[in-house]
Amino acid sequence: MADLKILITGASSKTAEALIKLFKYETGHKLILLSSRINKLKQYEGYDYHRVNSLSFKDIKTLCYDMKPDIIINTAGFTDVDKCEDDRKTAWDLNVTLVEYLASISRVIDSHLITFSSDYVFDGNRGPYIEEDRPNPINFYGKTKHAMENACLSNLNKITVVRTNSIYGYSSTGKVDFIRWVLYKLEQGYGVNIVTSQYCNPTYVEDIAVAVNKIITKKRTGVYHIGGTDWLNRYDIALKTARVFGYDETLIKPVAVAELNQTAKRPVKGGLVTLKAETDLGIKLTSLESGLMALRHQLRDNKFSFVVK
Ligand SMILES: NC(=O)c1ccc[n+]([C@@H]2O[C@H](COP(=O)([O-])OP(=O)(O)OC[C@H]3O[C@@H](n4cnc5c(N)ncnc54)[C@H](OP(=O)(O)O)[C@@H]3O)[C@@H](O)[C@H]2O)c1
Repeated sequence: MADLKILITGASSKTAEALIKLFKYETGHKLILLSSRINKLKQYEGYDYHRVNSLSFKDIKTLCYDMKPDIIINTAGFTDVDKCEDDRKTAWDLNVTLVEYLASISRVIDSHLITFSSDYVFDGNRGPYIEEDRPNPINFYGKTKHAMENACLSNLNKITVVRTNSIYGYSSTGKVDFIRWVLYKLEQGYGVNIVTSQYCNPTYVEDIAVAVNKIITKKRTGVYHIGGTDWLNRYDIALKTARVFGYDETLIKPVAVAELNQTAKRPVKGGLVTLKAETDLGIKLTSLESGLMALRHQLRDNKFSFVVK
């Protein structure tokens, strides 16, 4: 495939870093990165970097019209599920309005828009879910993602929505995810209370990059589910993490969801069936154990640089 011009929004995200790494080492695509933050991804080099906040819609529009990327990958998102309940305006602006903007920009400049959604569009009564299952979000984050999907999928543009869940993996900027949070606590010798409900299939971030690359080369549109091969509850995920990293499992205490006082309600049986992605994109997804072992290897020489979002 000819080299493409790919613009990535929210470039400091965990997902963007995996994409940047893959495109740099496996393709000749030209990258244009948009981020609100100073550039902490200097080790990858060879891209254009623009300090643009994803909420500055007009600046994004001007840049897109100037650069005319073949592909726009939107990784920006208000991903803190509890904060979404309290700051609904920012959550809506980032998770819905931005994507509506990008969809209309991509139609004008004829680019392929790839954007991310979540298993939280489902209510969690009977997951894991297939692409055709009916969304019924139970928290505001899920509602924003559902609204975004509707805006994208009612549009006849070249748009792909990648639903994923519980992303984990290496982040040189020290982004926190559930597994990194568990590791940080165990490393410090702190006890952690983890719910025995809330099932998902944690997604190794590099699998997302591989899937997106296939979506681009195969020019696929519509909805794709990406997740890991193991469907587990949060407590079992934490135990597996402790085992792979050699931390004290007894620090992990099982608790009922009511004991956590989470602001947002979470789906109980969430997670995503990935058969469509495996067969149609021809990808192999990573087991939690393999993903954790890869992460352990990547972190071996790096101290945790814990950054609170
Ligand atoms: N993390 C998960 O477990 C998970 C699960 C399902 C779906 N998803 C979806 O997958 C996508 C990527 O997730 P991720 O975890 O890789 O993202 P992430 O690491 O949380 O980063 C999201 C990026 O969005 C931008 N952003 C966040 N809050 C902002 C705000 N208030 N104003 C302006 N920009 C803001 C920031 O980009 P810059 O500062 O670089 O501009 C930030 O780095 C998102 O759409 C997310 O909803 C994630």
